[in-house]
Amino acid sequence: MDVVDSRVERILRAAASAPSVYNTQPWQVDVTGSTVTLRADAARQLRHSDPHGREMLISCGAFLFNARTAARRDSLTAVVKVLPDPDDELLVAEIAFEPGPVPDMDELELSVAIERRTTSRVPFDDQPLFTDVLMSILQAAQGEGAELRLVQPSEPVREDVLGLVRRAEALAAEDPAARAEEAAWTTTDPGRDDGVPQDLLGPAADDERAPVRQFHASTGKAQFEERSTLAVLSTAGDSARDWVAAGQALQHVLLAATTYFVHASFATTVLENPTTRHDLRQALSLDGAPQMLMRLGYSSAQKRTPRRAVPGAAAHDRG
Ligand SMILES: Cc1cc2nc3c(=O)[nH]c(=O)nc-3n(C[C@H](O)[C@H](O)[C@H](O)COP(=O)(O)O)c2cc1C
Repeated sequence: MDVVDSRVERILRAAASAPSVYNTQPWQVDVTGSTVTLRADAARQLRHSDPHGREMLISCGAFLFNARTAARRDSLTAVVKVLPDPDDELLVAEIAFEPGPVPDMDELELSVAIERRTTSRVPFDDQPLFTDVLMSILQAAQGEGAELRLVQPSEPVREDVLGLVRRAEALAAEDPAARAEEAAWTTTDPGRDDGVPQDLLGPAADDERAPVRQFHASTGKAQFEERSTLAVLSTAGDSARDWVAAGQALQHVLLAATTYFVHASFATTVLENPTTRHDLRQALSLDGAPQMLMRLGYSSAQKRTPRRAVPGAAAHDRG
């Protein structure tokens, strides 16, 4: 194994700690020297809740951003072609790692945040984010060609957003196929290397006002904060390319937040239902298509979800 190979292996391990819907980890790679082909794994797509693969490609976009960021820590630059084959939407990216400059402080901080970031589904401190964090996450989204619309506690439209989240959650709760997908991807098996462990689902919200996914397997109830910052990530279009961009923007936002010790959790059921997704876009007068809804705040550190070895990552080295 030469030096670049061992760096690529390290980069791919870091990339795989990206968030993915239900921790499905819907990615696979093919490594040739210092070039990596990243593919979405359609076998891991949520066929019912994510029929077009939007959340699958957002997850792969987060993996891609991690790969770019982890490469910088090793003084490599990732030269990326996103969706290089118009006839193959599962071919997410071709990534060539080339020698680059020594990383600057910001790049190092982001790369260190990769391993620290976790989703946190517990109640947050009851306070919005500080201004420096807000500036940083707004810039992070813009840097990847996306927009972050903050929804602060003082804004009347927040009630509309919370109402739509509630409506989507209620509809999904009545939907046997959505419940079956949740059951398939939440787990009590300590040996499983994908899915969300049940002890990380967090408590159910006692007044159903909190913008969190209502997992049926949640244990216990808790009062959630009223004044966390909500944020909706959107992209100009709604194509596969926009979804990969949204994933990269999401991960840039999450890593920037992590450098300020800020956690996020998501409530994406509202975006899985086309009607509530449309209504959310209208309510917030968004120019683009909403891709992620998250709450951001301060909470205790969370346990990590498991990860698979990246399929394909080690094959080259073993050969
Ligand atoms: C596209 C996407 C949608 C997600 N939707 C939700 C959600 O609705 N509720 C939730 O609690 N977590 C959601 N997550 C977070 C994943 O469950 C989480 O990333 C995964 O379990 C891995 O855990 P980690 O983020 O702590 O590494 C989502 C993540 C992605 C990328």
